[in-house]
Amino acid sequence: MIGIAADHAGYELKGILIEYLREKGLEVKDFGTHSTDSMDYPDVAHPLAESIENGTCEWGIAICGTGNGISMTVNKHAGIRAALCWNSEIAALARQHNNANILSLPARFVSTEEALAMLKTFMETPFEGGRHQRRIDKIACC
Ligand code: RB5
Repeated sequence: MIGIAADHAGYELKGILIEYLREKGLEVKDFGTHSTDSMDYPDVAHPLAESIENGTCEWGIAICGTGNGISMTVNKHAGIRAALCWNSEIAALARQHNNANILSLPARFVSTEEALAMLKTFMETPFEGGRHQRRIDKIACC
């Protein structure tokens, strides 16, 4: 199960990514928002993060205008490593080096094509482990 959440700025992109994933036969849990009406990204970000922490979702996608607010929110959760990505190379490194479990996208600053390319890369790229696991183990501070 893949979780996805967006605020009003990411609502349209969220719909496109959900359609792409479902066409691939993947199960998607949509945490909202469900319109372009202005809303507060933490209201959808926390439920997404909790679903990954409790195992309901394997990994997720978080979208807001810049990608910053929603990734700041999900990264407050101990079990989350959200990576703000703006091109496919960074999306690949987020998996290879950071074992990111949330792809965070800036809807107002990437095209649909760029977002789909990042999603594809994120899904297909494995974690490299080794020295990167050692570094991830040092991230938690409290
Ligand atoms: C909404 O206008 C905008 O502030 C939000 O989508 C996001 O960019 C916040 O970080």
